[in-house]
Amino acid sequence: MSADAVLHVAGARPNFPKAAPVIRALDRHGVRQRLIHTGQHYDDRMSEVFFRQLGLPEPDINLGVGSGSHASQTAAVMTGLEELMLAARPALTVVYGDVNSALAAALVAAKLGVPVAHVEAGLRSFDRSMPEEINRIVVDHVSDLLFATSPDAVTQLADEGIAAEKVHLVGNPMIDTLLANLDRFDVDAIRTALSLPDRYIVATLHRPGNVDDAADAVDLVKAMHAVADHLPVILPLHPRGRGHLENAGLLSHRALRVVEPLGYLEFVSLVRGAAVVVTDSGGVQEETTMLGVPCLTLRPNTERPITITHGTNHLVTRAALAETVASLVAAGRPAVWPTPPLWDGSAGERIARVITDLLR
Ligand code: UD1
Ligand code: UDP
Repeated sequence: MSADAVLHVAGARPNFPKAAPVIRALDRHGVRQRLIHTGQHYDDRMSEVFFRQLGLPEPDINLGVGSGSHASQTAAVMTGLEELMLAARPALTVVYGDVNSALAAALVAAKLGVPVAHVEAGLRSFDRSMPEEINRIVVDHVSDLLFATSPDAVTQLADEGIAAEKVHLVGNPMIDTLLANLDRFDVDAIRTALSLPDRYIVATLHRPGNVDDAADAVDLVKAMHAVADHLPVILPLHPRGRGHLENAGLLSHRALRVVEPLGYLEFVSLVRGAAVVVTDSGGVQEETTMLGVPCLTLRPNTERPITITHGTNHLVTRAALAETVASLVAAGRPAVWPTPPLWDGSAGERIARVITDLLR
């Protein structure tokens, strides 16, 4: 690895649509780059499909860490990365979002004195029972460049005492990817492929707070079945939730269909055509906001409040889910809706400019 390269570390599904526009923009600026895949996600549908569809470069190395407890997964990424960074010290390490791979990479780089850039800094759910919240806080506090997707994140970082000169409001690289692919989202094709009617609900579920506990899973399945009583539901299911949700009877409603995780283009096409989306995903709250698709987030909080204040997102409880879906379907899609500032497709370019300034 070239000693002056920018090292990107990605490993889980949400990292890939965030990294793609940053890597592309840095390429345009002629910056030497390396991409390390940690292997946190490894199924074709959780990983490779994004490389094929988004034009991401083949990773230089895949650490192949796979699944495990938080400590073992984080430690495996740390050990693998430390060896690589000691062998060829990068000029900068770029980490994405709030996953364990980002935490591990930021810790290793910071301790080796390699500058760290955090893409998607400053988001807070204020809920430390979420593993991601711990990751967000730690990564932000060891980072040298903090790229924020929304003004509330900038304010939060200031409140936590992080120096303003490190923080850059750049917009949202995941939205760069969405906007760059708008022509490729084909609602009719995906509806035909999945034999869906004109009006349908899309759901995604994978948060530990929703799917890890067997009793919660029963509650959640009841709520989802009540939604399916109203309109057909299609649920591309993250592998994390499969066991508990299926044991809780998820598959027993004929209007609720579970499919494997979808490729990015197929998934966003499905979302684009949905009457309402029910989710606990971070990225999906943002994508629905841009597409103007009503979104119900099955969580008590969100680290992305801008999707509520400037978008189509609402928090909802399991108990209120079916009734809220029904009222949103009846109201129809908004004709106009606000979108967050700088979610304009140029976040990758803004990030690349800051990075090239630093490298100079
Ligand atoms: C991780 C992130 C979460 C993010 C989510 C996106 C952390 C702490 N969590 O959660 O923030 O929202 O990714 O999708 O980093 N599995 C497979 N195949 C795979 C990957 C995982 O079957 O390719 C299964 C394994 O049983 C594994 C489980 O999913 O134990 C959880 O995977 P893991 O990466 O630990 O966490 P996620 O729930 O995916
Ligand atoms: N996604 C996908 N196929 C799916 C579900 C999700 O391509 O079946 C995409 C979608 O664009 C989403 C991104 O993967 O924004 C990250 O999703 P995930 O919910 O796994 O992670 P989070 O954003 O919650 O961390």
